[in-house]
This record gives sequence, C-alpha cells and structure tokens, in this order.
Amino acid sequence: MNQVATGFRPWSTQVAMAILESKASTLILPNLQTIQKEFGFIPHEAIELVSKVCNVSRADVHGVVSYYTDLRETPAAKVCVKLCVAEACQANGVREFSVAAEQVLGIKLDQHNPGGVELEAVYCLGNCVLGPTALINDTLYGRLTTEQLKAIVETKLENK
Ligand code: FES
Repeated sequence: MNQVATGFRPWSTQVAMAILESKASTLILPNLQTIQKEFGFIPHEAIELVSKVCNVSRADVHGVVSYYTDLRETPAAKVCVKLCVAEACQANGVREFSVAAEQVLGIKLDQHNPGGVELEAVYCLGNCVLGPTALINDTLYGRLTTEQLKAIVETKLENK
C-alpha cells in the first residue's frame, strides 16, 4: 500500500495486530485511533483487525470510521490544511480567503494535489474571533492571509 505522508509506519497487518494486542482494548474507537496514530490512516485491512479484537462486525467498525471525520481511510497528504468555513470565519472573510487559498495551493476545497497538499473545509476550530482560521497539520493559525498560507505550506513541504 502506498503511503504519502511521512512520519508513520508503513502498513503491516502483523505489526498492527501486535500493537492492538498490546493495548488490550476491546473498544472500537480507541483501537481505530491507535491504528491511525501508528500508520497515519485506517486501511481496509485494519477494519477486519479491529472487528476481531473488539468482537464486533466489520460494519460496526466501518460505521465508526465513517462517522468521525478525523478518522482517515486514505493516507494524509504531507500538508493538511483544514480551513474553517463556519459562520464566524465567514464574517471574517473566509469565503474570499478560500477562493484565494484554492488559487495559491492549486487545488479546490476537499481535494489532494500531487504536490502533497490537501485542503479540507471544516466547521469551527474554536478560534472564531481570529478568522480566517486554519489548522495546518497540527498547528492552529488565525487571521491567516494567503501570503502566510503559501509560506507555511511551502515550509512544511520542504521540512518533511
Ligand atoms: S467559526 Fe471558524 S474557528 Fe470557529
């Protein structure tokens, strides 16, 4: 399986099972979080493993994966830009900002680009008075400008 993001283990069913067994949890969500933390996403094979460990159906596990938007079924891009498009950020100009961000990054909202960047619309990052707000990888940015966005993304692409 091809994995784009760095910093994660390559997928291995044997390693994943050993990790899940060492955690000894029969709860679906913590096991899925463990898989994503180790491998960067939850591949199809992990659904089967978690269903065995938790003694539930694959449909139950898939239901949890599809419910929580932070659980990924595909590898993340090197740089993930989660742009808040909720009401308070709209009042701070995120609609215009998102159009400019799409041009700067060369992708549309909710798309990956081959250069390793993805732009995702999210709804409130808890930084409402400082919009436009974005979570870029694990760092929160407020009052973001397109120039800052471009510089941050370029730096993160270079440093990965
Ligand atoms: S509305 Fe954008 S951070 Fe809350």
